[in-house]
Amino acid sequence: MTNRPYVIDEMISAKSIAARIEELSREIHDEFDSTNKLVVVGLLRGSFVFIADLVRELDLPIEVDFLEASSYGDGMESSREVRILKDLRGAIEGRDVLLVEDIVDTGHTLHHVTNLLKSREPARLKTIALLDKPTRREVDMKADWTGFEIPDEFVVGYGIDFAQRNRNLPFIGKVRFT
Ligand code: PRP
Repeated sequence: MTNRPYVIDEMISAKSIAARIEELSREIHDEFDSTNKLVVVGLLRGSFVFIADLVRELDLPIEVDFLEASSYGDGMESSREVRILKDLRGAIEGRDVLLVEDIVDTGHTLHHVTNLLKSREPARLKTIALLDKPTRREVDMKADWTGFEIPDEFVVGYGIDFAQRNRNLPFIGKVRFT
């Protein structure tokens, strides 16, 4: 499938993403106490563009850390194994934490990673995902903040890949096979 030719149709413009991030940043600002330094955790690799834009809109004292997860599925089972490939550098016990995801699809990654972070006893844990595909959900999970709900389309850009391509597009596009 990855060798099939395709084109990319713009689905969410860079301008719309920027406007939504401004709105979300205001809500996040109101939620956290500015006297506690917030740990913003980016879930690699897909969130690297989103977290970069989000933190620059956040008028709060923050630290940034990263976690890399990958999921495996055989296509038949609904339960998927999520493996941690790179753990956080810092401890989060007693800290306020914001986990940043690019997309929630089946929900397994968000489920696994939030359970892992909760086990480390942060003072507060909130989650944000730029995109949400609710029709694909297999685990009852939703991020505390969502940028855009989208239909079940193959999307790329703004950090999200198709076979490791197109992460550098400045907008969210829809893959259309030709
Ligand atoms: C993608 C995406 C999310 C996850 C969502 O990551 O970045 O982390 O899948 O899927 P789920 O809700 O079905 O678990 P992927 O494993 O493709 O890695 P990447 O971020 O490095 O591209």
